[in-house]
Amino acid sequence: MKRALGVCYYPEHWPEDMWARDATRMVKAGITWVRIGEFAWSRLEPQPGQFDFGWLDRAIAALAEAGLKIVLGTPSATPPRWMLARFPDMLAHDATGRARGFGSRRHYCHSHAGYRDAAADMCRVLGRRYGRDPRIHAWQIDNEYGCHDTVISYSDAARDAFRDWLAQRYQSIDALNTAWGNVFWSMEYAQFDDIDLPNLTVTEPNPAHVLAFRRFASDQTVAWNAAQVRALRPLTDAPLIHNYMGRVLEFDHFKLAADLDIASWDSYPIGFLSDRLEADGDHKKRYLQQGDPDMQAFHHDLYRAMNNGRWWVMEQQPGPVNWAPYNPAPLPGMVRLWSWEAFAHGAEVVSYFRWRQAPFAQEQMHAGLLRPDDAAAEGLAEARQVAEELAAMPTVENAQAPVALIFDYASDWAWKTLPQGADFDYFRLVFDAYRALRRKGVSVDILPGTVQDLAGYKLVLVPGLATVPDGLRSAMADSRAPCLIGPRCNLVTDELGVSVPLGPNLPGLDTRVVRVESLPPGVARPVAGGGAVVHWAETLQGTAEVTLTGADGTAVMVRADHLHYLGGWPDADLWDRILVTLSTQAGLDLVTLPEGLRLRDTGSHRFAFNYAATAVTWEGRTLEPAGVAWWPT
Ligand code: GAL
Repeated sequence: MKRALGVCYYPEHWPEDMWARDATRMVKAGITWVRIGEFAWSRLEPQPGQFDFGWLDRAIAALAEAGLKIVLGTPSATPPRWMLARFPDMLAHDATGRARGFGSRRHYCHSHAGYRDAAADMCRVLGRRYGRDPRIHAWQIDNEYGCHDTVISYSDAARDAFRDWLAQRYQSIDALNTAWGNVFWSMEYAQFDDIDLPNLTVTEPNPAHVLAFRRFASDQTVAWNAAQVRALRPLTDAPLIHNYMGRVLEFDHFKLAADLDIASWDSYPIGFLSDRLEADGDHKKRYLQQGDPDMQAFHHDLYRAMNNGRWWVMEQQPGPVNWAPYNPAPLPGMVRLWSWEAFAHGAEVVSYFRWRQAPFAQEQMHAGLLRPDDAAAEGLAEARQVAEELAAMPTVENAQAPVALIFDYASDWAWKTLPQGADFDYFRLVFDAYRALRRKGVSVDILPGTVQDLAGYKLVLVPGLATVPDGLRSAMADSRAPCLIGPRCNLVTDELGVSVPLGPNLPGLDTRVVRVESLPPGVARPVAGGGAVVHWAETLQGTAEVTLTGADGTAVMVRADHLHYLGGWPDADLWDRILVTLSTQAGLDLVTLPEGLRLRDTGSHRFAFNYAATAVTWEGRTLEPAGVAWWPT
């Protein structure tokens, strides 16, 4: 397994006489990859059709001469101001119908064909110039699709493209009316051109309409990326990469990744804890300077699934960020811990964002490996330490994990469209399951709902999958491993209507969800023997063996052979109990870890990471705060 460090660099932000010295310092710090160019359109093409590659040629030369391998970004996340003059209707529109204007980034709508083609043309120009340049070792296409809520756009371009998409999908307007149930409230259409986007309706739009729009928006993102891939592929043999952002679910990353070679994601652990995780105040305080102990690992495992195990961290938080509600500094050692955790999960490259903190514009308060005055920031020494350790450490072998957890973007769109309770969130449900596994020391493979083969897994978890595809259904039937399905699994049709006969409708498992309830915060329905159901409860009927009951004797979990259906959202105690029961059946070893300690098993080593702010001791090993340990297995 190859492993290396990288850094994100913006030569256009610094005087040219700094470039060579920067490059030498990067190499001295043990960095081998450098990503450049992804926001530089206004410098690459200052006027329409007038290109300036001189500075980029010189920057590439300076970096490569120092021995660095370059990732070149395509600059489509930052169309220059003149592009807007050329395509005044290229902007995305928010749900109130207002254009989202120029002055930051990602100001474009994926459905605007003119800008999409201009971005692909830019790829061709870059590809012709640098595609066979041996100093360019990889490409990054665009930057963080979906960041700043940029997948869903209510522009005229989106509306027109949506109508075409609907005509393709349904072929006839009658088929669409039937599929959506438009007879309800006289919403029937006479032609595709009558259909608007599902915003600005008096009350909620038809869920089938919303889901279709979300599928369309995902497809538009995939198609947008594919246009750049088509432009670049013939011009380069270097791998094509995109950098995804944590907990962005509005497009199907698995589908988009199918056009690329390597997946990568941007890991900002402390920003995520503050900005995009449900957790109580104690948890947020306990992990204030470390980040949530499972959030990074979840994304590592998710992105490992996208491109046959080839994945990177393209941006790694190196110090305080600027964009979360609160931005504390990492505990000493955390930059090293995050880096090692990524490698333990199989990353090929961990690349820090960014080399030097910029003293201007939006991210002037965002740390880099260097301070704005060019002195080393705290993260630099930790990066150097990781580089030294990487050089000294023997190869780590990847291995299939014992547990598979299914993750499906479309289920998030389904449940966002039809939440039925303010606290029902698909990511949160899957992440709760993931956390429960990790608290018990288990390594996990995250797999898409389209998976066809579960061979080798000892345990399979399928929480909240809106519709179970046939392939997964037969893979579960073929597997001997216990499969935990539910809650809220296979209860709706492909058009987001209630399935009749009632779900989960799995062969061999006679149980039906005959009623669902959502529960407000603070309500916990106790389960006999310990733990409780929170957020979501289902009433189950059928002849399957009841394995868990509520305090009132009603079924909470049932089974038939190796298939288990869970009719509620477990709290942490109930998750623990369920995993203990299933692991006995699965022959899976669970351990009890001290708070903050997490493990990751590879084919050759066990790694341990201490996310706690205090030292922990486990099985005779003591890890300091932010400590990392590994040993051969
Ligand atoms: C990422 C983005 C970078 C930078 C960074 C700051 O979302 O890709 O360009 O903005 O966040 O944390």
